[in-house]
This record gives sequence, C-alpha cells and structure tokens, in this order.
Amino acid sequence: MKITVIGTGYVGLVSGTCLADVGNDVLCLDVDAEKIRILKEGGIPIFEPGLDAMVKANVDAGRLRFTTDVEEAVAHGLLQFIAVGTPPDEDGSADLQYVVAAARNVGRFMTGYKVVVDKSTVPVGTADKVQAALAEELAARGESIDYSVVSNPEFLKEGAALEDFMKPDRIVVGTEDPRAIDVMRELYAPFQRNHERLLVMDVRSAELTKYAANAMLATRISFMNELANLSERLGADIELVRKGIGSDPRIGFDFLYPGAGYGGSCFPKDVQALIRTAHAAGHDLKVLQAVEDANDAQKSVLTQKIVKRLGEDLSGKTIALWGLAFKPNTDDMREAPSRVLIADLLARGARVRAYDPVASHEAQRIFAGETRIDFVDKPMLAVQGADVLAIVTEWKEFRAPDFPAIKALLKTPAIFDGRNLYDPAVPRRAGLEYFAIGRL
Ligand code: UDX
Repeated sequence: MKITVIGTGYVGLVSGTCLADVGNDVLCLDVDAEKIRILKEGGIPIFEPGLDAMVKANVDAGRLRFTTDVEEAVAHGLLQFIAVGTPPDEDGSADLQYVVAAARNVGRFMTGYKVVVDKSTVPVGTADKVQAALAEELAARGESIDYSVVSNPEFLKEGAALEDFMKPDRIVVGTEDPRAIDVMRELYAPFQRNHERLLVMDVRSAELTKYAANAMLATRISFMNELANLSERLGADIELVRKGIGSDPRIGFDFLYPGAGYGGSCFPKDVQALIRTAHAAGHDLKVLQAVEDANDAQKSVLTQKIVKRLGEDLSGKTIALWGLAFKPNTDDMREAPSRVLIADLLARGARVRAYDPVASHEAQRIFAGETRIDFVDKPMLAVQGADVLAIVTEWKEFRAPDFPAIKALLKTPAIFDGRNLYDPAVPRRAGLEYFAIGRL
C-alpha cells in the first residue's frame, strides 16, 4: 500500500519504518529540513535499538523515502498518517496546532480519496478537528473529495518500539466508516499473526483508550510508590508485598515496580492532559490528580534519603549518579527523575558526577553551563572520589557491580538505589550502607 507519514519524530519514524518493513511503499514528510537531510544520508535523529538497521534496510530496498515536499507527500499515500508532536501547552493540555496544520495540508493538496489517520496521542475530540480542517480546506478549493478520518493510537514503549509495532497486543482503530475499516484491516493484516488483534470502535472511544491505558499504568506505579513509602514506615519490604499481590492474576506482576517516579514523553504528559480534558468536561478525575501529585513527590524521595544521611547542606559533597535517561535503552530525558534529583542536589550545594551509557549528551544539553556536573564514560569513574552513589535508571550494566570496589572508592560508603536493583544483603555484606525504595 502507499503510505504517507507526516512527522518523523519517534512515533512517525518507527511507524513508517515498520510499515515499510512488511512491504509497503512509505514516504515520510517533515517540515524540519535538517532532520530529513540526516535521514536521507542514513542517519537516525533518535536512539532506538534496531531502528537504524531497519531504516537502512528499507531505504536500500526503496520502500522508505523522506521528503520535505508537502504536495508530493500528500499525493503519495492513500493513507496519510499524522504523527506530529502534541506538546503540552501552558496549562498541560495537548497543543494541537501541528496536528491541525498537517490535516490542512492534506486538505489543500489531495486530489483523490484519502484515509487520514491520527497516530499522535491526541485528546478526545481531535478527530472532529481534523475532519473540520479537511472540510474547510476542500471547501476553500471548491472541491468535494471523499476522505475518512481514523484514530489509531500507538502503544509503543521506547526501547522496545519495533517489537511493540511488529507484534502488537492490540491495534485500536477508531472509525465507523466501512471504507476506512477495510483499508485499516488490509494495512494491519501483516501484524495480526494468528490472532485477531484489531479492535474497531468509534473514534472517541479509540482516542480515550490511549489515555486510559497510560493513566492506568501510571496509577499502578504511583500506587506502588506510595505503598513503598508506607512500607518503610511500617517496617515492611515492598518487594515481598509486590510479589504477594502480583501473584493474583487480577493484579498481575507487570508495572508494579516502585522507584524514583515515572518519567518519559508519555505518562506525565498524558496524565496531565487527561486531567485537563476531564476538568473541561465537568468531571474531575480525583484519582488521577493524586497519581500525578504522588509522582511529583516521588521524584524527590532519593534526595530526602541522601539528606537524611549526609545532612541538609551538601556543599563540598560529590554525588555519583548512575543513570540519566528516564528508563534504560533510551537517551530520552524528558520528565526524567534524574533531572529533579540533579536540580535538588545542586540547589543544596553538591557536585554531581554522572554516568549514563547513552544519555550524557542529552544531559549536557539540558544542564548546559552548569559547572558542577561532570560526565564520565565509565560507571566506576563516577564513583571514584565521590561521597555516595545514587542510582536512578536500571541499565543492565548496573545489575552486578563490584560492591567491594565501590566501598573502597566512596568517602561515605552508601548506595541510594532509586530502582531497587539489588538484594539488600549483597551490598551490605560488602560493607556498604544500602538505601532502596520501600525496602528494609
Ligand atoms: C509508555 C507506555 O508503556 C506505552 O504503552 C505508551 O505508548 C507510551 O508510554 P514509555 O514512556 O516508553 O511507554 O515507557 P515505560 O516503559 O512505560 O516506562 C514509563 C516510566 O514508568 C519510566 O520512567 C519507568 O521507569 C516507570 N516505571 C515503569 C516504573 O517506575 N515502574 C514500573 O513498574 C514500570
């Protein structure tokens, strides 16, 4: 099938590449000429395991191309995927100007039937706005050409995006238009494997499904974080409690890991956007507001533990930091707990010596001009001469460190683990103090 993907950010590039990989003819459009130049030269503007090789293979096969030419892009695809950004505006609502502008472009240049698909995470009601933009542009041209608008939210996890796209749990398709349903069914047939994974529903339910999924997952995390904080006060171990409740199939084990708070490009933004949507609809989501408040507080939990151990004034202290990205296998630091931790530590006068396998360049950009952070390229270099070690991202390479060496290098041999990576007995056996989240 001929497919146009508008927006070569994370979602657009992954979707376009995976759709090309099963044999479609995909043209990706971006207004950012620099991004398109990099992509044309075989570079990838984001970090996602496996993506560079998949882009290259599909570019070489002639199935994946890039352009800044709007007219060419609109002419190309029967399907027009809108995968542009929806950044939060000042009050936390999703800003739809890029989505609407993309729809306008389709309306301006289309000459035959198009299926316009919202892939960006957009608030309930956005499909109506896309529809209105298309109708207006066509009316301005005096044309009456058929089109369908579909909501098809993505459920990609950073670091596992290709796998999530190629082997989806479900494919949500929001439209009641039979012609569009047929096109979407054909499009996703290669990803169905042996089960029917397409869930066809009305547009608004599809739009809400995406927010509901992320809000539910964020709720599980905040709930576990609160229980972890309570466990510490009650003398219980959250890791045992987690196993105890996860074995109930109604609860399940996934996404019950307490930590230093959730971050990333989705949960914080989508939780906020859903709170705003609900408020505007006259129904306050009390639970979700609490989820957000609890997460904000959780991002300071490690600082509190460090302060409790080293004192309020951290001037003259150096904190070794393992992990900057909001989670492993990405260089993404959007809403990362590390940002709050670093800001808290600097505000208390500390220096930070940070190691992350891929996110250091991103942190350097974020903290440009800050002289009290050093970035090192080996975990043990961060520990060398530092007072204590804090861990905020569970990169695999942190799982089995040399505890005696860490003990020897730290001035105050203490680890503050924001991801509960270790059996507490192991670092303690090596003579380290060990502080985790909700553990004895
Ligand atoms: C998420 C959703 O999982 C995905 O379906 C959606 O499309 C986009 O948002 P992503 O933001 O890439 O994906 O990361 P995810 O792996 O879900 O982690 C989000 C955050 O929650 C991370 O900061 C992670 O550390 C935290 N988390 C996750 C926990 O603190 N505990 C858990 O048990 C799971």
